[in-house]
Formats: sequence, structure tokens, C-alpha cells
Amino acid sequence: MDTAATIAALRARTTRRPAIGIVLGSGLGALADEVAPADRIPYADLPGWERSTAPGHAGRLVVGELSGREVAVMQGRLHYYEGYEMTSVTYPVRVFREWGIDTLILTNACGGLNPAFRAGDLMVVSDHINLMGANPLRGPNDDRLGPRFPDLVEAYDPALRALAHSVDRDLRDGVYVGVSGPNFETPAELRMLRGLGADAVGMSTVPEVIVARQVGMRVLAIATVTDMATGIPGQIEHVTGEAVLEVAGRAGARLGALVKGVLARI
Ligand code: HPA
Repeated sequence: MDTAATIAALRARTTRRPAIGIVLGSGLGALADEVAPADRIPYADLPGWERSTAPGHAGRLVVGELSGREVAVMQGRLHYYEGYEMTSVTYPVRVFREWGIDTLILTNACGGLNPAFRAGDLMVVSDHINLMGANPLRGPNDDRLGPRFPDLVEAYDPALRALAHSVDRDLRDGVYVGVSGPNFETPAELRMLRGLGADAVGMSTVPEVIVARQVGMRVLAIATVTDMATGIPGQIEHVTGEAVLEVAGRAGARLGALVKGVLARI
């Protein structure tokens, strides 16, 4: 899908020209309500842009001011497990880029694999492992938008990571492994993922980061640890989607303060 029709629809709904895009993950949508003044655009009104079907994802783009910056906030993301193609999951990132956004802040809910972590922790993503079994760049490449074989070294901008740590001194830092879901992992899978070097596991973020980097955007990702996915006998937790939303909702105020603090100093 060509992004031009989507950009035309956006321009018909808002005169704002945000430079920063923010994606709010599961249970983390409350921050979008703090954007003021704001133009709120349902995804359904944007051609080419799929609807959010996941629980806890409102499905609208909120464009306006947050911490004195012009931002476009996705109140709800699109996930691969919803059945969307990777190109659809990452379509909003391409639209953001064409619209003039050059910095992307992603948030998500994840399971903690690092035994030092606790539910409720926030982790600055330092790097990722793509185990989703798919890649949003597969297929013909438009060389005008980005390279066929993009570099993913320092995909998570070192300066933005340092800025996040300076805003909140108690953040974790680590590697996020993306899986397709939608089931939570078996204990054997969790032990394997930890062995591969991941600190947290989740079902999003990786596709958006791959596309954002290919088109040259700066990326910051903050993962909210909603449960400890250790896979260690005796410490095995049963995880539910409801519990994930509940813990993410409780961590939301701190995540919001972090994002606003980053925006103020970016
Ligand atoms: N695994 C995968 N995704 C998740 C988890 C988990 O334990 N918690 C929140 N999102």
C-alpha cells in the first residue's frame, strides 16, 4: 500500500506536524489521554492502516502536545499474532516516516527472563533477537526508502538509552526477544530464550524497530516487565492476558513519567 493516501487522510484530520512517534503497548494506553490539545483519529479513518483487535489497545492515533513536543501517539499497536502481515504491522512506522517523524519511542509489555528482574520493572531495550519467524522487509525493496540489507548494530539509539537512564535511575537494561505468540511460552521455551541471551520476551516491537531503522529513524524502546517468565521449576508462574494488562496498567504512571521526561530533554 502506498502511504500517500494515508498521509492525505492524516493531513485532512490534523494540521500538526509531529517529529516524534510513540507506540503504546498492552495496558499502557493511558499516556495518550495526557496529550493536550490533541486531534484523535481512529485507525479506521486511515486508509491502509489496520484496526487494533488486541485487548487494552484503543486503536486511535492521538496527535498533539506532550511535554511541550508535538507527538503522534499510537494508542494501541498492531501485532503479528492478530493475523496481520508484517507489512501491515509496520505500516504505521512507514507512514510516520513519510509524514516527517524521525524519532520513534516504542513501549510494550513483556515477560522477564533475567532472574534479577521483578514484575513491574521497566527495561530499556539495548538490543533484540528476532524469533518471530518473519521479517517485515521480506519482499521487493524500494531503495529510495532504505537499503536492502540494513545494519542493525546500535538499532536502539545509545544517546536516547542514556537519556532514559538519566530520567529514571532505576531502569533495567537488556535484550528483548520477539516471538510471534499468541500463546505464552512453555517453561522449556523460556529456558531456551534465557540461554540465547535474552532478558525479556514479548510479542511485538521487533518488526517496528526493523522498519524504523531501515528508513533511518532514531529508536528508543521501553519494555514493562509484567510477569517473571523464568521457566525455572518452583518459580513457574501462570501468566494470563488479564494479569499482563493489570500489571502494565499499574506501571503505567512510571512509564508515562519516563516518556514525558525523555520528551522534555530530547
Ligand atoms: N511472554 C511473552 N509476551 C509477554 C509476556 C510473556 O511472558 N508477558 C507480557 N507479554
